[in-house]
Amino acid sequence: MKPLKYYFKKAYKEKFAIGQFNFSTFEQVKGIVAAAQNLKSPIILGTSEGESKFVGLQEAVALRNVLRNKTGLPIFLNLDHGKSFDYLKKAIAAGYDMVHFDGSKLPLEENIKISSQVAKYAKWRSVVVEGEVGRFGTDASRLYTEKFEIKEENLTKPEEAKQYLHMANVDVLAVSVGTFHGLDVSGASPHIRLEKLQEINAIGVPLVLHGGSGTPEEDIRKAIQSGIVKININTESRVAFSHTLRKTLEANKEEITPYKYLQDSVQAVQQVVEEKIKLFGSNNRI
Ligand code: 13P
Repeated sequence: MKPLKYYFKKAYKEKFAIGQFNFSTFEQVKGIVAAAQNLKSPIILGTSEGESKFVGLQEAVALRNVLRNKTGLPIFLNLDHGKSFDYLKKAIAAGYDMVHFDGSKLPLEENIKISSQVAKYAKWRSVVVEGEVGRFGTDASRLYTEKFEIKEENLTKPEEAKQYLHMANVDVLAVSVGTFHGLDVSGASPHIRLEKLQEINAIGVPLVLHGGSGTPEEDIRKAIQSGIVKININTESRVAFSHTLRKTLEANKEEITPYKYLQDSVQAVQQVVEEKIKLFGSNNRI
């Protein structure tokens, strides 16, 4: 199997994006991998620190290994939004393919300092590193019933991204260009600030879009043309899983067999992931 770096280079050159789909249950993984298999797509499984603590770092790696061997697909595993070098070291030791250091709450100098240490440590172990400059406004993926306001000061400043990339030797950079973690159920959708993204893309490093849920398809397509090689999706897949499960249990009050009442939720996740794979253009790229 070709390494993750190969797929990021390919995505950057051929202008498609690889989806990172977060999970905290085996049923979500089943849906995600079934979609990737159907559409012959490389895929990244993501766990935040919280998700990885629930699943277990080693268990997440074991799942990736089994599914990689069984399907022959390029399935990768990323530790999403790691807040400390120590935790990223644990993920690397467990066998993660990639780690994301989220130093977005730190002063830029401190973010650069720790990111450089992570990059040095990870490179020796052939692990891919994602850095981050700018903030997504929220830490957790969730539903907002009131309009989510993007704060201008949280968006990535191109000159800071340049300074960061010059000093910290990361492979890909997460940028805040108008998206946020979660879904605004009041109906407002995030819009990508294309000019800002293009200015950052001129630096020449592959970029990552967080908060992919709810972003209009046209914005996503344009973002991919402007250097985005990875798009993170969590909320839409969580909604599909949880709402379907709630409905199934409501409709079958006597049902107690998990493999029966979880089937529809697996399929709901698969459907979301298939739609995203097609939108990101990563189908038939293995
Ligand atoms: P959404 O929950 O908005 O899809 O964002 C996911 C994400 O960016 C994980 O890092």
